[in-house]
Amino acid sequence: MLNEKNILITGCCGFIGSYLTMRILKEYNGVHIVGIDDMNAYYDVSLKKYRLDKILSLNKDFTFIKGDISGRELLDKVFSKDRFDIVVNLAAQAGVRYSLEDPDSYIRSNIIGFFNLLEEMRAHPVEHFIYASSSSVYGGNEKIPFSTQDRVDHPVSLYAATKKSDELMAYTYCHLFKIKSTGLRFFTVYGPAGRPDMAYFSFTNKLLKGEKIKIFNHGHCKRDFTYVDDIVEGIVRIMDQGPKQDYNLYNIGNDHPEDLMNFVYTLGRCLKENGLLEEDFDLDGHMELTDMQPGDVPVTYADTAPLKKDYGFKPDTPLAAGLDRFCKWYKEYYGKDSG
Ligand SMILES: NC(=O)c1ccc[n+]([C@@H]2O[C@H](COP(=O)([O-])OP(=O)(O)OC[C@H]3O[C@@H](n4cnc5c(N)ncnc54)[C@H](O)[C@@H]3O)[C@@H](O)[C@H]2O)c1
Repeated sequence: MLNEKNILITGCCGFIGSYLTMRILKEYNGVHIVGIDDMNAYYDVSLKKYRLDKILSLNKDFTFIKGDISGRELLDKVFSKDRFDIVVNLAAQAGVRYSLEDPDSYIRSNIIGFFNLLEEMRAHPVEHFIYASSSSVYGGNEKIPFSTQDRVDHPVSLYAATKKSDELMAYTYCHLFKIKSTGLRFFTVYGPAGRPDMAYFSFTNKLLKGEKIKIFNHGHCKRDFTYVDDIVEGIVRIMDQGPKQDYNLYNIGNDHPEDLMNFVYTLGRCLKENGLLEEDFDLDGHMELTDMQPGDVPVTYADTAPLKKDYGFKPDTPLAAGLDRFCKWYKEYYGKDSG
């Protein structure tokens, strides 16, 4: 049970981290959460502050530390001060395309930061280490749905390579030092207060300004869009029930890939229904069909049978329902006149 646990959550001001932190603080008794985030400016920092304010406004047993997990000194202090039962690592440099622009930040946060956490847990044992991996490790995998049993030796971006490296390092530390871990390969997570660098958010920003949106691979892409509450439900169940074996890996995705064009039309409909776009807005006239981007993959499709079998859950929020919640939040956050 999660009640009374001492928990470290890295990336607590990030999209997924903030939802997870709030969910645990609201639902479980006697938990103490230490949250670390460096509040970097990869995207609008005010969004990170907004999420932090929401966590702090719960007035629960939560300690925030602004800091970078790639610095060992900070982590030494954090792990010496508190004994953690569970560590959840969600801090990372995310995003596939940005890994072509600023590869250093991926090595710093995703490799060195991850390694630092493993070293701390070697010195200060925990019951369970849970960390975010990504569907991007599947690269150009053609076998669908994607299973954690599939070989994933061909990452097509540095981001994917860092996530695969995390899984390998977690395996080694489990083997050598008995650190029980569960890696979670998330599939395109979306929702209110999400990440502005992701398509549903950046498309919304552009369409509302009357700008054109770029549809990569001429729309011939499929993505397994997963609503953030479903991701959090998966993480909480895994935290609550504990690891099934010493080393574990699961997909958390919707196992219902959506055609990119269908996703764009659904988003357009939700934006109109929420009064963010005029009813007669010409969506087709605001699309520019272009080639595939380096590092991108044509399809993502999660096999969630193992998650369902072991934890009795699989994501199922329909895309239209999730995008509607995003649009409602967007309208409230950016103001009624955002449309
Ligand atoms: N959102 C998705 O679709 C998705 C999909 C697959 C995997 N993931 C993974 O899930 C995790 C959470 O993703 P998210 O969408 O919430 O991203 P996010 O960028 O919103 O959250 C990450 C948070 O970590 C912080 N951070 C980054 N580097 C840090 C460092 N070195 N030290 C301390 N804090 C640091 C950032 O400031 C940010 O607040 C990441 O590991 C990401 O790679 C996300």
